[in-house]
Amino acid sequence: MCAFERSEKGMDFIMKEEFINLLRNVKRDGIEKLITYLEKTDFFKAPASTRFHGNHEQGLLEHSLNVYKLLYMKLKQKPYSDLINVSDETIIIISLLHDICKTNYYTVEMRNKKNEDGMWVKEPYYTINDTIPYGHGEKSVMMISNFIKLTMEEMYAIRWHMGLSEPKELYNTISLVFEKYPLALALHEADLEATYLYEERS
Ligand SMILES: [Fe+2]
Repeated sequence: MCAFERSEKGMDFIMKEEFINLLRNVKRDGIEKLITYLEKTDFFKAPASTRFHGNHEQGLLEHSLNVYKLLYMKLKQKPYSDLINVSDETIIIISLLHDICKTNYYTVEMRNKKNEDGMWVKEPYYTINDTIPYGHGEKSVMMISNFIKLTMEEMYAIRWHMGLSEPKELYNTISLVFEKYPLALALHEADLEATYLYEERS
């Protein structure tokens, strides 16, 4: 695509195209059905959160691509390059789809807010409407597995990508997972770095 086309089509189109092109590098049965499913949902428009980083349209798409880029670079460097040997397919799947659980998860509602002139005005805001209350990482694993077969390592990495943001009762389990599958720790780090170093809240 030439530079002119890129500017004509806009950033939203470019991010979506980049995401889908990356997913098409995954040569597994069901990947096209997964892409078709995502296109029918709000995935490409959804925010990444209601009040925190990426709380804007396409925040989720932007976040997923940031995690992909950070994880890709991370795995090429020490210490991970000595510890982890995974395919590009695995990197693409676990980064781009780790938060697929946020598909059809947010809705927009209106609230009253005073503007700069002290007048009450209606303002849209994001709220959660979880119609598939199956958790977070575990829900992403479940949703992806409806379309493609995941490896054990991919399942563990996606399930535990929230790391120590999980309830403290799970810390022992998480440390076992990070020892067994350093890829889960790498994904957790890339997720944090994308959120706190690259993304803004509106
Ligand atoms: Fe997440």
